[in-house]
Amino acid sequence: MQSREAVVSPSQPLISLRHVARSYRRGPSEVHALDGTTLQIEAGRFVAIMGPSGSGKSTLLNLISGIDRPTRGEVVVGGLRLDHLSEDALARWRARHVGLVFQFFNLMPVLSARENVELPLLLFRLSRGERRERAELALRIAGLEDRMEHKPGALSGGEQQRVAVARALVTDPDLIVADEPTGDLDAGGAEVVLSLLRSLRQEMGKTVVMVTHDPRAMRFVDQVFHIDKGRLLHGEEAARAGRALESALGIRVPTQPRGADPTPTREGA
Ligand SMILES: Nc1ncnc2c1ncn2[C@@H]1O[C@H](COP(=O)(O)OP(=O)(O)OP(=O)(O)O)[C@@H](O)[C@H]1O
Ligand SMILES: [Mg+2]
Repeated sequence: MQSREAVVSPSQPLISLRHVARSYRRGPSEVHALDGTTLQIEAGRFVAIMGPSGSGKSTLLNLISGIDRPTRGEVVVGGLRLDHLSEDALARWRARHVGLVFQFFNLMPVLSARENVELPLLLFRLSRGERRERAELALRIAGLEDRMEHKPGALSGGEQQRVAVARALVTDPDLIVADEPTGDLDAGGAEVVLSLLRSLRQEMGKTVVMVTHDPRAMRFVDQVFHIDKGRLLHGEEAARAGRALESALGIRVPTQPRGADPTPTREGA
Protein backbone atom coordinates (compact mmCIF):
# COMPACT_ATOMS: atom_id res chain seq x y z
CA MET A 1 0.00 0.00 0.00
CA GLN A 2 1.11 3.59 -0.49
CA SER A 3 2.38 5.60 2.46
CA ARG A 4 -0.18 7.05 4.81
CA GLU A 5 -0.69 10.82 4.87
CA ALA A 6 -1.36 10.88 8.56
CA VAL A 7 0.09 8.31 10.92
CA VAL A 8 -1.02 8.53 14.52
CA SER A 9 0.61 6.52 17.27
CA PRO A 10 -1.54 4.63 19.76
CA SER A 11 -2.97 6.56 22.73
CA GLN A 12 -3.17 9.86 20.82
CA PRO A 13 -6.60 10.92 19.74
CA LEU A 14 -7.21 9.50 16.29
CA ILE A 15 -10.54 11.28 16.19
CA SER A 16 -11.25 14.73 17.51
CA LEU A 17 -14.54 16.58 17.10
CA ARG A 18 -14.89 20.16 18.29
CA HIS A 19 -18.27 21.88 18.57
CA VAL A 20 -19.62 19.83 15.71
CA ALA A 21 -23.18 20.43 14.55
CA ARG A 22 -25.13 18.88 11.71
CA SER A 23 -28.60 20.06 10.87
CA TYR A 24 -31.01 19.07 8.14
CA ARG A 25 -33.75 21.11 6.49
CA ARG A 26 -37.09 19.40 6.76
CA GLY A 27 -39.71 21.53 5.02
CA PRO A 28 -39.85 24.89 6.76
CA SER A 29 -38.04 23.69 9.88
CA GLU A 30 -34.53 22.55 10.72
CA VAL A 31 -33.62 19.28 12.47
CA HIS A 32 -30.56 19.51 14.71
CA ALA A 33 -29.28 15.94 14.35
CA LEU A 34 -26.08 16.90 16.17
CA ASP A 35 -25.92 20.00 18.29
CA GLY A 36 -22.42 21.08 19.30
CA THR A 37 -20.59 17.84 20.02
CA THR A 38 -17.03 17.73 21.31
CA LEU A 39 -15.39 14.30 21.50
CA GLN A 40 -12.00 12.60 21.39
CA ILE A 41 -11.33 8.96 20.61
CA GLU A 42 -7.83 7.60 21.09
CA ALA A 43 -6.13 5.45 18.48
CA GLY A 44 -6.34 1.72 19.12
CA ARG A 45 -9.57 1.80 21.13
CA PHE A 46 -12.82 -0.06 20.67
CA VAL A 47 -15.59 2.36 21.61
CA ALA A 48 -19.37 2.13 21.63
CA ILE A 49 -21.80 4.97 21.06
CA MET A 50 -25.19 4.44 22.65
CA GLY A 51 -28.37 6.48 22.73
CA PRO A 52 -32.07 6.45 21.89
CA SER A 53 -33.37 6.24 18.34
CA GLY A 54 -33.01 9.58 16.55
CA SER A 55 -30.38 10.88 19.01
CA GLY A 56 -27.78 11.44 16.27
CA LYS A 57 -25.64 8.29 16.45
CA SER A 58 -25.55 7.53 12.73
CA THR A 59 -25.08 11.23 11.98
CA LEU A 60 -22.01 11.19 14.25
CA LEU A 61 -20.59 8.04 12.58
CA ASN A 62 -21.11 9.55 9.14
CA LEU A 63 -19.07 12.60 10.13
CA ILE A 64 -16.27 10.52 11.68
CA SER A 65 -16.06 8.33 8.57
CA GLY A 66 -16.20 11.19 6.07
CA ILE A 67 -19.53 10.10 4.56
CA ASP A 68 -21.03 13.44 5.52
CA ARG A 69 -19.76 16.87 6.49
CA PRO A 70 -20.73 19.03 9.46
CA THR A 71 -22.84 22.16 9.24
CA ARG A 72 -20.27 23.70 11.58
CA GLY A 73 -17.36 22.65 13.79
CA GLU A 74 -14.12 20.74 13.31
CA VAL A 75 -13.77 17.05 12.45
CA VAL A 76 -10.14 15.90 12.70
CA VAL A 77 -9.24 12.27 11.97
CA GLY A 78 -5.63 11.12 11.84
CA GLY A 79 -4.48 14.74 11.93
CA LEU A 80 -6.56 15.73 8.91
CA ARG A 81 -9.37 18.33 8.95
CA LEU A 82 -12.12 16.37 7.18
CA ASP A 83 -14.44 19.38 7.17
CA HIS A 84 -11.88 21.17 4.96
CA LEU A 85 -11.72 18.47 2.28
CA SER A 86 -13.60 18.57 -1.01
CA GLU A 87 -16.09 15.78 -1.79
CA ASP A 88 -13.52 14.06 -4.02
CA ALA A 89 -10.67 14.34 -1.53
CA LEU A 90 -12.98 13.04 1.20
CA ALA A 91 -13.97 10.02 -0.91
CA ARG A 92 -10.29 9.25 -1.61
CA TRP A 93 -9.41 9.62 2.07
CA ARG A 94 -12.30 7.35 3.06
CA ALA A 95 -11.32 4.59 0.62
CA ARG A 96 -7.87 4.44 2.18
CA HIS A 97 -8.51 5.04 5.86
CA VAL A 98 -11.97 3.80 6.82
CA GLY A 99 -13.70 0.42 6.76
CA LEU A 100 -17.48 0.47 7.09
CA VAL A 101 -19.78 -2.18 8.58
CA PHE A 102 -23.58 -1.84 8.46
CA GLN A 103 -26.48 -3.48 10.28
CA PHE A 104 -27.76 -5.36 7.22
CA PHE A 105 -24.32 -6.43 5.90
CA ASN A 106 -24.84 -4.83 2.42
CA LEU A 107 -23.21 -7.72 0.56
CA MET A 108 -23.72 -8.32 -3.17
CA PRO A 109 -25.86 -11.48 -3.37
CA VAL A 110 -24.49 -12.66 -6.75
CA LEU A 111 -20.85 -12.51 -5.63
CA SER A 112 -19.02 -15.03 -3.45
CA ALA A 113 -17.69 -14.01 -0.03
CA ARG A 114 -14.23 -13.61 -1.56
CA GLU A 115 -15.49 -11.49 -4.47
CA ASN A 116 -17.43 -9.27 -2.04
CA VAL A 117 -14.30 -8.73 0.03
CA GLU A 118 -12.26 -7.92 -3.09
CA LEU A 119 -14.62 -5.08 -4.13
CA PRO A 120 -13.00 -2.21 -2.16
CA LEU A 121 -9.64 -3.20 -3.66
CA LEU A 122 -10.82 -2.31 -7.17
CA LEU A 123 -10.04 1.31 -6.24
CA PHE A 124 -6.37 0.40 -5.78
CA ARG A 125 -3.74 -0.56 -8.31
CA LEU A 126 -3.42 -4.25 -7.53
CA SER A 127 -3.22 -7.30 -9.73
CA ARG A 128 -6.00 -9.90 -9.65
CA GLY A 129 -3.70 -12.21 -7.75
CA GLU A 130 -2.90 -9.56 -5.15
CA ARG A 131 -6.59 -8.76 -4.70
CA ARG A 132 -7.37 -12.40 -4.20
CA GLU A 133 -4.53 -12.90 -1.74
CA ARG A 134 -5.58 -9.91 0.37
CA ALA A 135 -9.24 -10.91 0.36
CA GLU A 136 -8.34 -14.43 1.46
CA LEU A 137 -6.18 -13.09 4.28
CA ALA A 138 -9.02 -10.81 5.49
CA LEU A 139 -11.47 -13.73 5.34
CA ARG A 140 -9.05 -15.92 7.31
CA ILE A 141 -8.77 -13.20 9.97
CA ALA A 142 -12.60 -13.25 10.12
CA GLY A 143 -12.49 -17.04 10.62
CA LEU A 144 -14.10 -17.82 7.25
CA GLU A 145 -11.36 -19.77 5.49
CA ASP A 146 -13.82 -22.55 4.66
CA ARG A 147 -16.59 -20.20 3.45
CA MET A 148 -14.70 -18.10 0.87
CA GLU A 149 -16.52 -19.35 -2.22
CA HIS A 150 -20.01 -19.30 -0.66
CA LYS A 151 -22.54 -16.69 -1.78
CA PRO A 152 -24.14 -14.61 1.00
CA GLY A 153 -27.42 -16.54 0.69
CA ALA A 154 -25.61 -19.71 1.75
CA LEU A 155 -24.15 -18.10 4.89
CA SER A 156 -25.66 -17.47 8.32
CA GLY A 157 -26.27 -13.87 9.45
CA GLY A 158 -23.20 -13.97 11.67
CA GLU A 159 -21.07 -15.30 8.82
CA GLN A 160 -22.40 -12.63 6.45
CA GLN A 161 -21.48 -9.94 8.95
CA ARG A 162 -17.99 -11.45 9.28
CA VAL A 163 -17.67 -11.21 5.49
CA ALA A 164 -18.65 -7.55 5.82
CA VAL A 165 -15.99 -7.06 8.52
CA ALA A 166 -13.42 -8.73 6.22
CA ARG A 167 -14.49 -6.33 3.46
CA ALA A 168 -14.02 -3.40 5.88
CA LEU A 169 -10.57 -4.71 6.80
CA VAL A 170 -9.21 -5.62 3.39
CA THR A 171 -7.81 -2.15 2.58
CA ASP A 172 -5.97 -2.12 5.95
CA PRO A 173 -7.70 1.05 7.21
CA ASP A 174 -6.80 2.74 10.53
CA LEU A 175 -10.44 3.06 11.46
CA ILE A 176 -13.35 0.61 11.39
CA VAL A 177 -16.78 2.21 11.79
CA ALA A 178 -19.78 -0.02 12.47
CA ASP A 179 -23.43 1.08 12.71
CA GLU A 180 -25.36 -1.47 14.82
CA PRO A 181 -23.35 -4.43 13.48
CA THR A 182 -25.14 -6.93 15.73
CA GLY A 183 -28.63 -5.40 15.30
CA ASP A 184 -29.78 -8.17 12.94
CA LEU A 185 -27.96 -11.13 14.53
CA ASP A 186 -28.89 -13.82 17.03
CA ALA A 187 -26.95 -14.14 20.29
CA GLY A 188 -24.32 -16.51 18.90
CA GLY A 189 -23.69 -14.45 15.76
CA ALA A 190 -23.48 -11.24 17.79
CA GLU A 191 -20.85 -12.67 20.16
CA VAL A 192 -18.66 -13.85 17.29
CA VAL A 193 -18.86 -10.49 15.49
CA LEU A 194 -18.13 -8.55 18.71
CA SER A 195 -15.12 -10.70 19.50
CA LEU A 196 -13.86 -10.30 15.93
CA LEU A 197 -14.15 -6.50 16.23
CA ARG A 198 -12.38 -6.71 19.58
CA SER A 199 -9.55 -8.74 18.03
CA LEU A 200 -9.05 -6.11 15.30
CA ARG A 201 -8.33 -3.60 18.03
CA GLN A 202 -6.30 -5.97 20.16
CA GLU A 203 -4.20 -7.78 17.59
CA MET A 204 -4.02 -5.26 14.73
CA GLY A 205 -4.23 -1.94 16.57
CA LYS A 206 -7.33 -0.81 14.68
CA THR A 207 -9.55 1.87 16.14
CA VAL A 208 -13.12 0.61 16.14
CA VAL A 209 -16.10 2.95 16.61
CA MET A 210 -19.44 1.19 16.89
CA VAL A 211 -23.00 2.37 17.40
CA THR A 212 -24.90 -0.25 19.33
CA HIS A 213 -28.00 -0.98 21.37
CA ASP A 214 -26.60 -4.38 22.28
CA PRO A 215 -25.89 -4.86 26.02
CA ARG A 216 -23.61 -7.80 25.11
CA ALA A 217 -21.23 -5.28 23.54
CA MET A 218 -20.37 -3.82 26.96
CA ARG A 219 -18.08 -6.77 27.70
CA PHE A 220 -16.03 -6.13 24.56
CA VAL A 221 -15.55 -2.37 24.36
CA ASP A 222 -13.04 -0.09 26.10
CA GLN A 223 -15.37 2.86 26.50
CA VAL A 224 -18.98 3.88 26.00
CA PHE A 225 -20.16 7.31 24.89
CA HIS A 226 -23.77 8.28 25.48
CA ILE A 227 -25.62 10.59 23.16
CA ASP A 228 -29.07 12.11 23.62
CA LYS A 229 -30.99 14.57 21.45
CA GLY A 230 -27.92 15.40 19.37
CA ARG A 231 -25.71 16.02 22.40
CA LEU A 232 -22.90 13.87 23.71
CA LEU A 233 -23.23 13.43 27.47
CA HIS A 234 -20.20 14.33 29.57
CA GLY A 235 -19.13 13.99 33.22
CA GLU A 236 -21.90 13.31 35.71
CA GLU A 237 -24.57 13.15 32.96
CA ALA A 238 -22.64 10.39 31.18
CA ALA A 239 -22.01 8.55 34.46
CA ARG A 240 -25.76 8.72 35.24
CA ALA A 241 -26.64 7.30 31.79
CA GLY A 242 -24.11 4.50 32.42
CA ARG A 243 -25.61 3.72 35.84
CA ALA A 244 -29.14 3.68 34.38
CA LEU A 245 -28.02 1.13 31.78
CA GLU A 246 -26.23 -0.93 34.41
CA SER A 247 -29.29 -1.18 36.62
CA ALA A 248 -31.67 -1.80 33.69
CA LEU A 249 -29.52 -4.48 32.09
CA GLY A 250 -27.48 -5.83 35.01
CA ILE A 251 -24.19 -5.27 33.17
CA ARG A 252 -21.06 -3.20 33.76
CA VAL A 253 -20.80 -0.17 31.47
CA PRO A 254 -17.30 1.30 30.92
CA THR A 255 -18.15 5.00 30.93
CA GLN A 256 -14.52 5.90 31.64
CA PRO A 257 -11.85 4.55 29.28
CA ARG A 258 -10.55 1.12 30.22
CA GLY A 259 -6.76 0.80 29.97
CA ALA A 260 -5.85 0.19 26.33
CA ASP A 261 -2.93 -1.98 25.42
CA PRO A 262 -0.21 0.67 24.91
CA THR A 263 1.57 -1.15 22.08
CA PRO A 264 -0.83 -3.06 19.88
CA THR A 265 1.03 -4.83 17.11
CA ARG A 266 0.19 -4.07 13.49
CA GLU A 267 -0.22 -6.89 11.05
CA GLY A 268 -1.36 -5.89 7.63
CA ALA A 269 -4.54 -7.51 6.30
N1 LIG B 1 -30.85 13.09 5.66
C1 LIG B 1 -31.63 13.52 6.63
N2 LIG B 1 -32.58 14.47 6.40
C2 LIG B 1 -33.37 14.93 7.39
N3 LIG B 1 -33.28 14.53 8.68
C3 LIG B 1 -32.37 13.59 8.97
C4 LIG B 1 -31.49 13.04 7.98
N4 LIG B 1 -30.69 12.13 8.58
C5 LIG B 1 -31.03 12.11 9.88
N5 LIG B 1 -32.04 13.00 10.13
C6 LIG B 1 -32.66 13.28 11.43
O1 LIG B 1 -31.62 13.54 12.37
C7 LIG B 1 -31.90 12.94 13.63
C8 LIG B 1 -30.77 12.00 14.01
O2 LIG B 1 -30.74 10.91 13.07
P1 LIG B 1 -29.74 9.69 13.20
O3 LIG B 1 -29.99 8.84 12.01
O4 LIG B 1 -28.38 10.20 13.41
O5 LIG B 1 -30.27 8.98 14.53
P2 LIG B 1 -29.81 7.61 15.21
O6 LIG B 1 -29.39 7.93 16.61
O7 LIG B 1 -28.83 6.92 14.34
O8 LIG B 1 -31.19 6.79 15.27
P3 LIG B 1 -31.47 5.20 15.11
O9 LIG B 1 -31.09 4.57 16.43
O10 LIG B 1 -32.95 5.16 14.88
O11 LIG B 1 -30.68 4.70 13.94
C9 LIG B 1 -33.27 12.27 13.48
O12 LIG B 1 -34.24 13.16 13.95
C10 LIG B 1 -33.38 12.06 11.99
O13 LIG B 1 -34.74 12.03 11.60
MG1 LIG C 1 -28.85 5.14 13.23
